[in-house]
Amino acid sequence: MTIRIVPSILSADFAKLGDEIAMCEAGGADWIHIDVMDGVFVPNLTYGAKVIDTVRRCSSLPLDVHLMVVQPEKYFDDFVRAGASGLTVHAEVAPHLHRQLTRIRELGCRAGVALNPATPLSAVCEVLSELDLVLIMSVNPGFGGQTFIPSVLRKITEARTRLDQMKSHALLEVDGGVKVENAREIVAAGATVLVAGSAIFSQRDYTATIAAMRAAGETAASPASRAAIHR
Ligand code: DX5
Ligand code: ZN
Repeated sequence: MTIRIVPSILSADFAKLGDEIAMCEAGGADWIHIDVMDGVFVPNLTYGAKVIDTVRRCSSLPLDVHLMVVQPEKYFDDFVRAGASGLTVHAEVAPHLHRQLTRIRELGCRAGVALNPATPLSAVCEVLSELDLVLIMSVNPGFGGQTFIPSVLRKITEARTRLDQMKSHALLEVDGGVKVENAREIVAAGATVLVAGSAIFSQRDYTATIAAMRAAGETAASPASRAAIHR
């Protein structure tokens, strides 16, 4: 049984990004999470296609690109060309979610939708069949190192139930404040993909941290999660 552990490079040391990614890959990371921020949708600026391309050259892992930007469709083609494996847009800035998800799939990418802590699950209910991944934000997006918002656990459970009812194969990912200590309850609620930035990059031994997070998740996997993990 496998839970996906996905380091977010937002907390990596960019002076040695290649080494940081190599250590994550050697340490058992399943994907690499890349946070694109535009200073408009979120109060922070990060990086774009250049960094995706750099990470692509350093690693053979799937690249999970989280777009915290307005008008994300402007970047789809460039990001896919740079090496993105999955593109996740925010429901809060997507009046044409169906069109965006369809386009992401046309480009050969995993299509994801992210929900801020204040956004209800109903924001994605009409597009579940267009979705490959639902990302439940467990902090308000914009920065690494924030504290997990516990009330989000209810939404994770609700999402798990709805995805199972719909027989959806979409992955359920959680991002923000994920640590070894809370991986167990997050997976028990129904998540199968855990994004972690500061919890991994603040440690000396990435391998041990990734393994501990995975073990914590695996021991807690609920029957519903187990079924999802095996899909
Ligand atoms: C926050 C980002 C996260 C961030 C998580 O807006 O989407 O991916 O890197 O960082 P931690 O794990 O430190 O909360
Ligand atoms: Zn993220």
